[in-house]
Amino acid sequence: MSYNLLKGKKGIIFGALDERSIAWRTALRCHEEGAEIVLSNAPVAMRMGEINKLAAIVNAPVIACDVSSNEDVSNLISKTMEHFGGGVDFILHSIGMSINVRKGKHYTEIDYGFNAKSLDISAMSLHRVLATAMKMDAINEWGSVVALSYIAAQRVFPDYNEMADAKALLESVSRSFGYHYAVKKHVRVNTISQSPVRTTAGSGVKGFDGFMDYAEKMSPLGNASSDDCANYCVMMFSDLTRMVTMQNLFHDGGFSFTGVTEAVINATAPSAP
Ligand SMILES: NC(=O)c1ccc[n+]([C@@H]2O[C@H](COP(=O)([O-])OP(=O)(O)OC[C@H]3O[C@@H](n4cnc5c(N)ncnc54)[C@H](O)[C@@H]3O)[C@@H](O)[C@H]2O)c1
Repeated sequence: MSYNLLKGKKGIIFGALDERSIAWRTALRCHEEGAEIVLSNAPVAMRMGEINKLAAIVNAPVIACDVSSNEDVSNLISKTMEHFGGGVDFILHSIGMSINVRKGKHYTEIDYGFNAKSLDISAMSLHRVLATAMKMDAINEWGSVVALSYIAAQRVFPDYNEMADAKALLESVSRSFGYHYAVKKHVRVNTISQSPVRTTAGSGVKGFDGFMDYAEKMSPLGNASSDDCANYCVMMFSDLTRMVTMQNLFHDGGFSFTGVTEAVINATAPSAP
């Protein structure tokens, strides 16, 4: 169902790899709500070709951009402005990559070169996108930027590895840059801290299936799906949330504020003799 919440709005969506990606689901919802979109992903991800299917559905150009490259980000922003004939109203940063997880390195033994790359792609890239957009005056007044995070930024999930540090940094960049962009142009910047969902990035975390099940049991409403997350992003891009900025917004069925649930107690209590 469409409410036309994004009618007339233009945006960039980073990170749609395949139809399970949160960015993919969000692009579909934004299109349904009337937005015009530019899609972007790393050149290596684009070679898989899936994103072109999405591009055809939402009628969007696809512009390659490795977010760890200043040049790529500038090129993306200037091509997007050319395409729209002006600035954008929203940006979704839906990007994560842990090189140490990929290489099977335990958190206590990470490689710092890989770590620097992971933090750059997963967190400082938000700074790079915002700084480039600010320099090129690419985000319209009252624009909205959302980046996706995870509660490992606040609490320990041992197998989340260096991504916990990346998410803490991402949330900090969102707050710090959010201040400056609000003062300069009323642009708001927030992170959405999402429930686990089975995607390429999500499934990279060790023991992911058991973990999804645990999160489901620990969330009074159950895990939030990618489509639920897409709805939340639409609301954050709409004019209904103009005064929300510099926040980390939990979108997790209540997981973040739950101490324990009956479902968890029942699953762990020793069975009666
Ligand atoms: N899946 C989950 O359980 C979960 C939970 C909370 C938050 N998140 C976050 O949601 C976001 C999207 O992840 P997803 O679960 O949809 O998985 P996904 O694998 O579909 O998306 C991750 C995207 O990051 C892109 N990417 C990686 N390196 C890049 C680079 N150098 N330049 C540009 N793009 C690059 C990938 O190509 C991919 O499209 C990530 O930030 C992730 O940490 C995911």
